Amino acid sequence: MSLPRARLGVNIDHVATVRNARGGAHPDPARAAALAAQAGADGITMHLREDRRHIREPDLAAVRAVTSLPINFEMAATEAMLEIALSFRPHAACLVPEKREERTTEGGLDAASLQSKLLPIVSALSRGGMRVSLFIEPAIEQIEAALALQAPVVELHTGRYVELVLAGEGDQAAFELSRLAEASREGARRGLEIHVGHGLTFDTVGALARLPEVRELNIGHFIMGEAMFIGLDPAIRRMRLEIDRARGEAA
Ligand code: PXP
Repeated sequence: MSLPRARLGVNIDHVATVRNARGGAHPDPARAAALAAQAGADGITMHLREDRRHIREPDLAAVRAVTSLPINFEMAATEAMLEIALSFRPHAACLVPEKREERTTEGGLDAASLQSKLLPIVSALSRGGMRVSLFIEPAIEQIEAALALQAPVVELHTGRYVELVLAGEGDQAAFELSRLAEASREGARRGLEIHVGHGLTFDTVGALARLPEVRELNIGHFIMGEAMFIGLDPAIRRMRLEIDRARGEAA
C-alpha cells in the first residue's frame, strides 16, 4: 500500500530572477506557471520579497490570468505585505522570515518568539480567506507556536538537511531528517497540515516525500536550474516522479 499523493508546488521566482537580470520581459514567470500546470504541478508558489529581486506585483495578476492552480504567496510578516495579500487574495499565504542581505530564506520563522507580532497578521490573512502556513524549523517549540497562532499549516525548512546531504555529512543529515520526521509526526498528530520545502533536489526529495504526514512540497531553485539543461516540463515531471516513486515505496 502506498502513501496518499503529495502535492508539488512549483516556485517560479527564479524565472523572474533571470528576467530581472536584463530588465526586460523575458523569460516570463507567467509562461512558466502555465507550463508548470501542464507538467503536473499542483500549485504555483511565488515570494514577493521586499526588495522585489524576483517576482514583482504585476506578476501576481499575470500568473493568475494563465492558470487556475492554487497560488501559494510567500511573504514577510509585515503590514505592507499583508495589504498586498489582502488585495491579491491567493489561495494560501506562507509567512517567511526575510532579511535584505540574505541570498535566500536562510532559516525558519521564529514563530515561538514572534507570537505577538505574528498573531494579527495570521488572523487577518485567515479572515481574508487564505490558508496560512508558517515556514519554520523542524522544532517542537515552533510547532507549538503555530498551534498557538492557529495557523492550519506549517512548512518545515529542509534547507539544512539538503546542505548536509550535499556536503556528504551522512550522520548529521540523518539526524536532521529525524528532526523533520519528528516535527511532521507531532505537527500532524496535533492537527497541523505538514508541508516541506527549500533546497530540494531530485536526489533529496525522496527522503521527505517518504514522510507519511507530508502533504505538499514546494520546490523552485533546483527545478529552474535543471530546466536550463533538460527543459522546464521534463524537470517538473521528473520531480513529480521522484515524489510519487518515494511515496509508492514508503508505507
Ligand atoms: N518554501 C519556502 C517557504 C521558501 O521560502 C522557498 C524559497 O523561496 C522554497 C520553499 C523553495 O526553495 P527552493 O527554491 O530552494 O526550492
